[in-house]
Amino acid sequence: MKNILVIGSTGQIGSELTRVLRESYGGSHVVAGYIVGAEPKADLLEGGPAAIADVMDGQHIADVVKEYQIDTIYNLAALLSVVAESRPRLAWKIGIDGLWKVLEVAREHHCAVFTPSSIGSFGADTPHDMTPQDTIQRPRTIYGISKVTTELLSDYYHLKYGVDTRSVRFPGLISWKTLPGGGTTDYAVDIYYSAVKGEKFVCPIAKGTLMDMMYMPDALKAAVSIMEADASRLVHHNGFNVASMSFDPDTIFQAIRKYKPEFEMEYDVDPLRQSIADSWPNKMDDSCARNEWDWKPDYDLDAMTVDMLKHLEQKLL
Ligand code: SER
Repeated sequence: MKNILVIGSTGQIGSELTRVLRESYGGSHVVAGYIVGAEPKADLLEGGPAAIADVMDGQHIADVVKEYQIDTIYNLAALLSVVAESRPRLAWKIGIDGLWKVLEVAREHHCAVFTPSSIGSFGADTPHDMTPQDTIQRPRTIYGISKVTTELLSDYYHLKYGVDTRSVRFPGLISWKTLPGGGTTDYAVDIYYSAVKGEKFVCPIAKGTLMDMMYMPDALKAAVSIMEADASRLVHHNGFNVASMSFDPDTIFQAIRKYKPEFEMEYDVDPLRQSIADSWPNKMDDSCARNEWDWKPDYDLDAMTVDMLKHLEQKLL
């Protein structure tokens, strides 16, 4: 039986992953780790134990790991790409200094660690179409640099100390539950909110800009499956490409218009977001994940759109 600590349990991924992990492993086996100012509430607080787990404080994380006999850590503490550009030092402190502390705790207490990477780990020199698993990674954003470093440092702890580190490169994640906040791919969430509220959407990303995207249930499935995967089959450990859909703003707009024919969109391109988006893949090749741990998504753009509109209508109207 696993005992899991989720660091960042109230964030974009953590708030949903903690619930899913509790359904699988039992509430008392999943600790919702949080920082002061972002405390868990409602069912996240009531569904199992919660503890302060700040990546800036390795000793505290070690204490939580000992107290709850943790064997698996989901380290989800990070700043997203756009906000990281305005606070690069903080992005590094959380993403890399924090990761180092988590990995040290894991080494000492024999924990497996999942720390997500991203499409942001690629850069302008990377092949953009069917981006291979192993390829050029020369990002120019601090977010991307920290994600490449995350992959390398996680591999290092695996190779040098035998820590069972595993991770995936998430596409832009789309959910009706928790808003992302500060990412380049946020438009693909915001567009659904505008559609449901009956507002015209002003898109900060230019028509024709393709990026990998994924519906949150698939992202959660990936995060759980990779940590459950048979280690003897893994050739890679960190930074698996995982893909499910790739679209540009006009394609998602048309997908929504199928169900909301009155919906309107105009473009007001944000230069920072656009330059980041242009440096990311159009579509990743995720065959290594499919071959090594049977990765397979459940949602395409249409299935996600139906589900997003249904849930947001219940939530907002
Ligand atoms: N969603 C992230 C971002 O846009 C990419 O991983 O920053």
